[in-house]
Amino acid sequence: MKLADNKATLSFSNGSPSVELPVYKGTVGPDVIDIRKLYAQTGMFTYDPGFLSTAATQSSITYIDGDKGELLYRGYPIEQLATSCDFMETCHLLLYGDLPNADQKTKFTRTVTMHTMVNEQMQFFLRGFRRDAHPMAIMTGLVGALSAFYHDSTDINNPEHREIAAIRLIAKMPTLVAMAYKYSAGQPYMYPKNDLSYAGNFMRMMFATPCEDYHVSPVIERALDRIFILHADHEQNASTSTVRLCGSSGTNPFAAIAAGVACLWGPAHGGANEACLNMLEDIQKMGGVAKVGEFMEKVKDKNSGVRLMGFGHRVYKNYDPRAKLMQETCKEVLQELGLQNDPLFKLAMALEKIALEDEYFVSRKLYPNVDFYSGIVQRAIGIPVSLFTAIFALARTVGWIAQLNEMIADPEYKIGRPRQLFSGSTQRDVKPLAQR
Ligand code: ACO
Repeated sequence: MKLADNKATLSFSNGSPSVELPVYKGTVGPDVIDIRKLYAQTGMFTYDPGFLSTAATQSSITYIDGDKGELLYRGYPIEQLATSCDFMETCHLLLYGDLPNADQKTKFTRTVTMHTMVNEQMQFFLRGFRRDAHPMAIMTGLVGALSAFYHDSTDINNPEHREIAAIRLIAKMPTLVAMAYKYSAGQPYMYPKNDLSYAGNFMRMMFATPCEDYHVSPVIERALDRIFILHADHEQNASTSTVRLCGSSGTNPFAAIAAGVACLWGPAHGGANEACLNMLEDIQKMGGVAKVGEFMEKVKDKNSGVRLMGFGHRVYKNYDPRAKLMQETCKEVLQELGLQNDPLFKLAMALEKIALEDEYFVSRKLYPNVDFYSGIVQRAIGIPVSLFTAIFALARTVGWIAQLNEMIADPEYKIGRPRQLFSGSTQRDVKPLAQR
């Protein structure tokens, strides 16, 4: 880490001696004040629930400038990656630090492709779930269970194990998501097919049946590939921080990623795409575009508990660059499928227009996030709403793994162990049961 020219001084109004704290500079973005010795020097902790001002790690993978609405993977703007690269190149970039050349791309894609099958026993494990179980409940179980199936790559301190686990997770996630879907639909599982692309193979495993040939539409394949690219990483978000915290105990990579899947499920995070589509469908049922004004009044009423799902972001205080790309993809997919007049898309556009002009949203810097349009795209492709977050998990796996491996390889890494401001009862004595 590079020291900045200045230092921070923390002084106290009660006359306690002030403390000088080092300041470090990143390559871009805010400097950080190093408080690691603060407790030893002052006997005090810092207090920052929700990590509003706390950098929990240094990282060289993804950079977001929330005010500008900028997202870079290893320095490359998301717009360039989404238009000039595919998901396999993006995975290589996130995992190894740079885009592959043609040979490296062929080799990496081949390696991933050769790991797409899952242990045949996995289907019996899957059979233990109810048919109507939520796919994210199933995915949390299946990903965690990978550590029971692949014992030979569970040592997080062994770089080779980490590498094999990374490839296995990236390769097997589409197979697992498709199996979870087929199980709920009561259809036979489709095995991966090695001559298809990562996205094409996923579509086939989802929508093909053994009864007839399946043709992968290039427009839909590209759209899905773009969804994967846009969701691949997003610096220290809740699920990534969960993966890091879980992995910091030395647990195996599959267990750490399963923790990430569980965290992603929440509606404030990855579950927002499902919640957003459900919201659009509810408004549609209420009367569609004509009811947008009424719905917006509810959103602005703090007592209603209603939020405009797919809007707002902890980091972006400007248009989420992924939302722009997703809106573009949404138009292409609807055009390809002859759904240009899709009522939910029209509704989403109407909501977006009103929100972008409304003082409530403008003053709070609330803009559409990636989830606002991704649900419409996935629904048009034929993906059931309850599977949206599982597809997000599939795409984010590479980011989780890259961040986990970066942490383990960092000589400064320690088990994550936050502290607290205790506000409970002080010591008291247990009374016998009859006196309580
Ligand atoms: N609709 C209405 N009001 C909102 C919304 C929204 N979607 N988002 C934030 N606000 C309001 C809050 O009520 C708050 O108002 P106040 O200052 O008057 O109290 C203000 O904007 C700030 O919001 P916070 O919740 O404090 O911001 P925070 O950074 O904690 O939350 C979050 C960010 C969770 C994403 C929030 O914007 C939200 O709930 N959005 C809807 C869910 C969603 O789309 N999540 C997807 C995130 S992106 C992703 O995971 C891929």
